This record gives sequence, structure tokens and C-alpha cells, in this order.
Amino acid sequence: MCGITGYIGYRDAYPIVINGLKRLEYRGYDSAGIMMYDGKEMKLSKTKGKVSDLELIVNNEEKRKVGKIGIGHTRWATHGVPNDTNSHPHFSESGDLVIVHNGIIENYDTLKKELVTRGYTFKSDTDTEVLINLIQEVKKNEDCKLGKAVQLALTSVVGAYAIAVFDKTKPDELVVARLGSPIAIGVGKENNEFFVASDASPFLEYTKNAIYLEDEELAIIKIGKGIKVRKIMDDSLVDATIQKLKMSLEQIEKGGYEHFMLKEIHEQPKAIIDTYRGRMLPDQGIIKMSGVDDNMSKFLNADRIIIIACGTSWHAGLVGEYLFEDMARIPVEVEYASEFRYRNPIITSKDVVIAISQSGETADTLAAIKLAKSKGAFVFGVCNVVGSSIARETDAGAYTHAGPEIGVASTKAFTTQITVLSLIALKLAKEKGTLSTSAFQNYLRTLELIPSQIEQMLKIDDSVKEIAAVYKDATNCLYLGRGFNFPVALEGALKLKEISYIHAEGYPAAEMKHGPIALIDENMPIFVIATNKGHYEKVVSNIQEIKSRSGKIIAIVTEGDTQVKEIADHVIEIPETMEALTPLLTTIPFQLISYHIAVMLNKNVDQPRNLAKSVTVE
Ligand code: G6P
Repeated sequence: MCGITGYIGYRDAYPIVINGLKRLEYRGYDSAGIMMYDGKEMKLSKTKGKVSDLELIVNNEEKRKVGKIGIGHTRWATHGVPNDTNSHPHFSESGDLVIVHNGIIENYDTLKKELVTRGYTFKSDTDTEVLINLIQEVKKNEDCKLGKAVQLALTSVVGAYAIAVFDKTKPDELVVARLGSPIAIGVGKENNEFFVASDASPFLEYTKNAIYLEDEELAIIKIGKGIKVRKIMDDSLVDATIQKLKMSLEQIEKGGYEHFMLKEIHEQPKAIIDTYRGRMLPDQGIIKMSGVDDNMSKFLNADRIIIIACGTSWHAGLVGEYLFEDMARIPVEVEYASEFRYRNPIITSKDVVIAISQSGETADTLAAIKLAKSKGAFVFGVCNVVGSSIARETDAGAYTHAGPEIGVASTKAFTTQITVLSLIALKLAKEKGTLSTSAFQNYLRTLELIPSQIEQMLKIDDSVKEIAAVYKDATNCLYLGRGFNFPVALEGALKLKEISYIHAEGYPAAEMKHGPIALIDENMPIFVIATNKGHYEKVVSNIQEIKSRSGKIIAIVTEGDTQVKEIADHVIEIPETMEALTPLLTTIPFQLISYHIAVMLNKNVDQPRNLAKSVTVE
């Protein structure tokens, strides 16, 4: 949901800010803008469209690139349609102040009306222009410096924000603040340069030292002097710690792949190994996870586990439900965070809540966590992004260690989330004695094989491409699976919708009879997971039902299958594994099919329309 970036220092700011925006484009990409300060004037360039469109404008006029100070923005529209005027940065009415903003000012209308009565006029429809004029008004009335004005203005704001503000009358400083939306500050040597960004990726090649602001904190960044962080509400000084970044440049580049999504699909074997490395120790017959070990009694005494998440992470949560109930015999409920938070749920201190989020920033998941905590539940996070808001807000947790996921359609985050959930379920099962030692050991050995089995599956890419070519012009698709693979069917359908814009629905195979069967005709491709252990015979019957209605069947089967092969139009084989672990394999062909169809349809695979990687607004 919008990416912001900025630079103040001794280097030319333009390449840093524009390249930073490209790295943040996963957060939103319906318009982009940049402000460059050349020592005298602020030059504003902004446009509807992508960062590459912005570059075209700037390239027409070299002077738009000049300066050692710059701030930039890539937008995912909330208030105001994506157009040039609504794009950020926004000037204040006096033209002295400029802002980039990620988030939503919920009371912007009230604030706007108040400012209008004071004579302000507005060019855009955005909440952000309201905020910068509010800052201007406070600065004028209080006759204070920018930092104080921003701080005072923010005390009247309801909503979420990560902002960077610059004042051309005080051009040696930048003011940044956060509430609910992330912001990282890169710190250069001897305070001679600073970087600001929604995540650390824009400044990785310049510094590994970063400060992550916490909610309700404001930082005044002064060139040559340093950073002063304060609490917005009570004005107390904060001793902000500098963290050493572990992320490498290589991890956020495409590394020879045409798209991030393809790279991330291919990274899954390594990502899964990184997820279980040091945790799963088959030789010793144990799983070590400090977040679970330290809170074992909470898990074992839990009346139930409630899993909350959104999107793909919610699908991983559904797999988790099957895993926890099957292995550890703990009742599980899986909830959309957005529903859970608003439906007055019954939560007690005997509940364990597991919040799953790749980004660790999803607003609904974060709000649901806060609600669960306020009712006394123990909240455990499963996040990918280290140090993210959800990772910090939860009582304990386990990182997925998948590495940066940049393609908007989630792939390796899904399989690594399932891996973490499998490890937790197995660990609890061992502790509770609901799995025998030999079954537990068998799971560990089998899970250890998954990365090489995925590697093997990735080699079938050409045959998957052929299938994609046959069905790329379909307008509707159905995805069916049962048991552990029902969530995979949902995820398969979501992947196709997200990046190819083909309508697709995921269904439990047996539910097909209760509705979707009416849709089946010779034009309808139906992807069915029919692996040998998951209610195989029943799914075969469903396939027969599809066949007799002339639907086209693409079946995911276990190696050596003969029965489905005879009926299906296409089969894709997965290697033999234990039923509970099949989602880690069955999801791979669905990712590849969606990817290839989107490429064949010329869609923007990594930045599908209307979507954003991290949804930091409700
Ligand atoms: C967005 C993304 C999805 C993601 C969902 C939840 O919709 O486009 O890919 O699954 O948010 O995100 P999270 O970061 O909480 O897993």
C-alpha cells in the first residue's frame, strides 16, 4: 500500500530515490512521483502509471534530477482516483512543505473542512494534501520548526501513516513518522547521509545500518547531526537502536529470471530448507522452536487454536487446521482477520491465536492480533519479514525465513508458512503423545525430502507450459481438492485470478455437486488434486462426474498413477509423500500454470492490476 522513499546527503539523490521506488513498487503501482530539491527550488515530477512512466517524464528534463535531497512515492490509491494530481508528493499551499505518505488519514474530511474555513484550497482529492496543509497551519500558528509542527499535527490525526516531510526553508532536515505503516531509516557514516523507505530494500547497497520506527514515533533527521526520535503523543525521547540489516542485494534482484514470481517459485526448495534448518533435527528425533518451547504449556492447555490471516496466508492457515487437528488433536478455527476483528468474537485466555502474515504488516491481521491480546489470548506470529509490525506485536513467533518475496502473487511464502505450521503441529503432537515416535520420525524424514522433490517437480515446467497454452483463453476455471488439498485448490484458483484475471473458483471436490457442477461444459477446465492417499477413490468418482459432463480435466496425481490417467485430459505427477505433506508439492504445478498463463496473456505477472503485496489499509 504505497511505497515511500527519500534521501538526504552528499550523493545525487535522484538515482537512489528512483531505484528505491522500483524496489518498492510491489507495494503499489498506480502512480508515482518524486520531489528533488536542488539547493534552491523543489522540482516536482509525478504521473499516473508506473515508476517507468515517471522516469520517462524526468528523463525529458535533466534539471528534474538535480539535487542531494529527494523524496519519492509509488501509490496504491485510497482517497482519490489514480491520476497525476492525486499522485504524491504533495506540496502545502505555501509551496514550502512537501510530503509523501503511506496510509489513510481517516478523519481527513473533518480536518479538510476546518482548513477550508481557514482559507485553504486543495488541488487533489487526497487525504495526504490535507495532512501537509494541517502541518503548514500548525507551523504558522505555533511559529515552530517542522519537526514540532509535524508532531502537533499528528496528534489530531486518526488513521495510519508513514510519512516523510521536507521544508525548503530548513533544507538540512527530513522529518519522518509512523503509525501503522512501516518506515525504515538507513544511517550513513558519521551522519553524512540518511535514507528513508517503507522497507530497507532501497538503501541496501549504501548502508546496512537501519532504524525501524515504532508506532507513534517521529524522527527528525538532520544532516551532519543525526537522528532524534520522539514519541508523538507524550514528546518523550526514544533511544532508537540501530539494527544491522541481513538482507542482501542479490535477494531482491531477479537473478536471471524473467519475473520475481518465477524466481520465487524456483527458490522454494531452498526457502523450505531455510525454514526447517536448525529446527528440525531428524537424527535427534526432535524439533526445536524456541517460540513454541518457551510457551509449550500455553499450547498444550489451549482450548483451541484460532488461526487468523488474509489472502494466501489464510489458505496456509487452512492447511494448518488440517495439520493441527490431525496430528496434535487440538481443535482449530481459521478466520479471515478482517471478519474476526469486527464480529465481536468469543476469545478467552485459554485460546492460542496464530497470526500468519508474509509481510507482517497487513492491517486487518494486525488489528485482529490486538483484539485477541486485549481479550487475554496468547498470540503467536508466523511472519516472513523480520522485525515487521506483526512480528513485534505478537507474544512469540516463528519466522518463515523465506527471504524477500517481491512478486505480488505469493508463492514461497505459502509453502514456507505450511512448513512452519507442520513443524509446530508435529512438535505439539510429539509433546502430547498423539503421534507415535515412529510416526513422528517418519514425518521428519519425509519432510526433509520435500525440497528435492520440489526441485524434481520444477523440471516439468515444459509440460506445464503446454497445458497452460491449451487453457490460456479459458474464462472460468474450477479447482478441486479434498482434505489437506482443499486449501491448495483455493490457493490454485487465487493464483490464477490474481495474475491472469481469469475467473477461477476453488472448491472441496465433494461440494462440486452442490453448485459448481452446473457450470461444467466442454469449455470448462477443471484442475483436480487426486493424489493417492487423499480420499483417492472419492475424488476419482468426482472426476468421472466431470468427464460425463464433458469438462476438461487436469489432474494432479501421484507418480505411477494409472486410474486417473485413463480419464483425465492431462495429468501432472507429484512424487510420493505423506498425505499431510502433499500441499507442499501439489501447489507447485498450480503456481507454474498460473505463471505461464499470465505470461502468455501478456499480463504484468509481478504487479497485477489493483493488487498490492502488503495491504496496510483496511
Ligand atoms: C495481499 C497480497 C497477498 C497476501 C495477502 C496477505 O492481498 O497480495 O499475496 O496473501 O495480502 O498478506 P500477508 O503479508 O499478511 O501474508
